[in-house]
Amino acid sequence: MLHAVVPAGGSGTRLWPLSRAQRPKFLLPLTGTDSSLLQSTVERVRLLSRPDQVYVVTGAAHAVDVARQLPEVPGDNILVEPSPRDSAAAISLAAAVIAEREPKAVMGAFAADHLVQDGEAFAKTVERAMELAETGLLMTIGINPTGPDTGYGYLRLGSAVGPGYQLEAFVEKPDQVSAVEYVSAGNYLWNAGMFVWRVDVFLEELARRRPALHDAVRTLAGAWDSTGREALFSQLWPTLEKISIDYAVMEPAAAAGRVGVVPGDFDWHDVGDYNTLGQVLKAADKVGNVVVGNRGAGEALLTESKRNVVVPAAGRLVAAVGVDDLIIVDTPDALLVCPRDRAQEVKGLVEELKQSQ
Ligand code: GDD
Ligand code: MG
Repeated sequence: MLHAVVPAGGSGTRLWPLSRAQRPKFLLPLTGTDSSLLQSTVERVRLLSRPDQVYVVTGAAHAVDVARQLPEVPGDNILVEPSPRDSAAAISLAAAVIAEREPKAVMGAFAADHLVQDGEAFAKTVERAMELAETGLLMTIGINPTGPDTGYGYLRLGSAVGPGYQLEAFVEKPDQVSAVEYVSAGNYLWNAGMFVWRVDVFLEELARRRPALHDAVRTLAGAWDSTGREALFSQLWPTLEKISIDYAVMEPAAAAGRVGVVPGDFDWHDVGDYNTLGQVLKAADKVGNVVVGNRGAGEALLTESKRNVVVPAAGRLVAAVGVDDLIIVDTPDALLVCPRDRAQEVKGLVEELKQSQ
């Protein structure tokens, strides 16, 4: 069985005004169903893990919402960090807690902010990664790149092993020139932001790469069930380096030949902005309008309007006549209207808003 960890931090500024500091992307129902991204991530990993083997690492501000959205995950498995210290700290803490309970457990870490619609295919890929993780490799899952996106990690394939490959290199978020080169080279995959390893193997690598982080999470996990935990947390957590797992562990471990990859044969989308959301949800009407909603959401009445992405606020109607290729997102206190091909610029808008406050 798999111990599945879902690191859930970050906010997703390009999805404003749905996504806010208090309501980050992973809590939002952006899946085309009633589930949030977090809930659908957990539904997927439940194909491989019992509820007591599912862990979520999240900030204090979101712990209550996370617990409410995931009633079957035991409260003890929601690991609450006092402040965000990026994914290396979050994932390492979970690994150390799991190691206390089962020292050689196979663990997977699955980012909370991806849309995967074929759960069965996902589970089959993870099973292949688990097979190679048992042999002592730190496993990644690779996605066929569709373009030179610099927001992803790139995995350079080496020799074939079992159902996957050894990695020759892991390059986190390369510059544009390198990304173009990697995509045309043909022997690179995108890193899906999902990792599978034995916790003992991972912690050994962490000790090698980031000894201070390793010692801190071991200390915290060792005191997990004691009354001293809170005090230790407030003492140690703020001292931890803010770094992602990709830079802290995966890049150097790949250079040392200890990382493998299995290609993922499932649909995979990083729902970073509303234009992408409109593309990935298989919910368009005959003229390409996508209305994103769930139970209790509002409705849309679109006349002679094509290819719009519309998110009505709960209990409200969005009506439009004769507009094409727009993003319209209504919420109780803010309304966004933006052409689809400028969806990326919402991030800048949020920056402006922050500065004006
Ligand atoms: N608990 C917690 N605390 N979780 C965090 C924190 C934190 O401080 N920071 C990030 N996370 C979680 C995010 O919620 C997400 O589930 C996961 O860790 C990855 O973090 P992102 O910040 O979304 O990383 P990224 O998208 O820039 O890059 C990663 O994902 C790409 C695929 O989407 C990398 O792994 C890339 O290599 C990869 O291609
Ligand atoms: Mg991400």
